[in-house]
Amino acid sequence: MTQSRRVIKAVIPAAGLGTRFLPATKAMPKEMLPVVDQPAIQYVVAEASKAGLTDVLMITGRSKRALEDHFDRVPFLEATLEAKGDTEKLRRIQEATELGEIHYIRQRDPKGLGHAVLCAKQHVGDEAFAVLLGDDLIDERDELLSIMIDVQEKTGGSVIALMEVEPSQISAYGCADVSSVDGEDYVKVNGLVEKPAVEDAPSNLAVIGRYVLHPRVFDVLEETKPGRGDEIQLTDALETLAAAEGPGSGVHAVVFRGRRYDTGDKLSYLQAVISLASERDDIGPALMPWLKEFVAGR
Ligand code: UTP
Repeated sequence: MTQSRRVIKAVIPAAGLGTRFLPATKAMPKEMLPVVDQPAIQYVVAEASKAGLTDVLMITGRSKRALEDHFDRVPFLEATLEAKGDTEKLRRIQEATELGEIHYIRQRDPKGLGHAVLCAKQHVGDEAFAVLLGDDLIDERDELLSIMIDVQEKTGGSVIALMEVEPSQISAYGCADVSSVDGEDYVKVNGLVEKPAVEDAPSNLAVIGRYVLHPRVFDVLEETKPGRGDEIQLTDALETLAAAEGPGSGVHAVVFRGRRYDTGDKLSYLQAVISLASERDDIGPALMPWLKEFVAGR
């Protein structure tokens, strides 16, 4: 067997309209919403960096400046903090600029997640690559991406991440029909359906925002017609790849059982902020007694 190349490129789509979060997202991408004290997207870029993905391509939309500025240096702010001797804040603002090389490309029209991924075709070239949705956070203490990269290298096709949800919740997600693979922790994906009605869902396994894709996905996306919501759906392209044959075909999945936070939806955003804040040494000890008192008083 030839030695496979380790996945090193990450694509982070952050060009969606974020309509569920309007008006906060009118002039700012939802990926810039703060989760405690750093924007959601920084957790995602940090996760990519930790998994050894040293080349990040961010797919941005109409308000791309805030994203680019966040990962760029701000010399006068650094100088001010340095002059004040505030080394802790200086370190915190420099963290975002030290997460590896970030490239940007604009998705001119938000024609769907599949279309956003297709915008990465030229940058990615002919290598397997990871996709991390910029509004989906995986707790840094739980491993997912590196496991998915290993599975991609083993199976040679594409790999998605699934999570069990309450059956009644499945219509908010892409849903997978899977079967087990002898002696392996991962499963084979037989079919996928985007946001099915509860009664049509083949399982309660929801697609979450991490993918490790074979570059053949680009050829499929080019042929994929707009689907649900008149958008080019990544799920539809993966459904095609799952049923295809030959090199680069096949889709497997890792079922994630760790902590995941969705910041694209108002309720789950608030849950993410509270969960992560409650575990922080600087905020948790003050937040939790207040929260208990607040809840008891309702
Ligand atoms: P969502 O399905 O959450 O859509 O996108 P959205 O448009 O951003 O948000 P709502 O539903 O209107 O509130 C999932 C991910 O795909 C990106 C988003 O930025 C998000 O990270 N995306 C989506 C794009 O980059 N381009 C698109 O055309 C659509």
